[in-house]
Amino acid sequence: MRKLFLIGIGAGNPEYITVQAIKALNLVDVFFLPDKGEARQQLLNLRKEICERYIENTSYRIVEIDDPVRDTTISDYATRVVLWHRERALIYEEMIQQELAEDECGAFLVWGDPSLYDSTIRIIEGIKARGRLSFEFEVIPGITSIQALAARHRITLNGIGESIVITTGRQLSAGLSGEAERTIVMLDGQCSFNNLLEEDLDIFWGAYLGMEEEVLVSGKLREVAETIETIRHEKRQKNGWIMDAYLLCKPNRNRSIQEFVVTDTDSATR
Ligand SMILES: C[S@@+](CC[C@H](N)C(=O)[O-])C[C@H]1O[C@@H](n2cnc3c(N)ncnc32)[C@H](O)[C@@H]1O
Repeated sequence: MRKLFLIGIGAGNPEYITVQAIKALNLVDVFFLPDKGEARQQLLNLRKEICERYIENTSYRIVEIDDPVRDTTISDYATRVVLWHRERALIYEEMIQQELAEDECGAFLVWGDPSLYDSTIRIIEGIKARGRLSFEFEVIPGITSIQALAARHRITLNGIGESIVITTGRQLSAGLSGEAERTIVMLDGQCSFNNLLEEDLDIFWGAYLGMEEEVLVSGKLREVAETIETIRHEKRQKNGWIMDAYLLCKPNRNRSIQEFVVTDTDSATR
């Protein structure tokens, strides 16, 4: 039976790849590489670099897939995305059928981790549910942009016993969720943090995480928001695309660090 791997390749640095992912890469006969819009060439190159760097046997094939564009005439966001996914499912199904023999192994190299703001699992599930193609599939986890953001800023994502919300710029534009102390924001092309300048928040922002162009900014949101917006605009102009993510938190971080500094009394009473 055909086998498909959905391999998380990490969010930007070719060295984010895991040993499990390298083992899976080396079993693959055909890599399906969808073209993803404006970041297309650079992201495609990174995937090819990963194949060249980590695969010992060079007999694999690469099949580039033209990703359909979303129909912007559909006003409801969820409907627009569902229809787009269906179209992608049909294209992927056709490519798998044409390019992957019954006894071969194929793979999709998924940016970051397949479980986070990525539709590949849903699309592959959709193809399986249609029942026209029989195959098994396995998901290999990868390092997300959230983990890269935390590591590069050298921070923990949550306070002790606290919750974190992971959301999008679109959702954040309606305001912070009341339930969590900290909020991670992805897919924010509109700098939605500008709606929160009245609140006392710290921001840890990163763009092109793990890549050569990586930029990090942190500080009081209301003091650094303009800088972030300017950098974002300039980098986007220069590179033609940008990917950025950030953590917003209520400002108790320094206090909690102080609480963990071991005092002389602590060491004397040990
Ligand atoms: C479609 S989602 C994919 C997320 C991915 N599956 C992951 O695990 O990180 C794309 C969003 O992830 C974030 N992102 C992905 N890679 C990034 C990077 N290298 N630097 C900053 N943000 C990144 C950005 O918020 C971007 O808009």
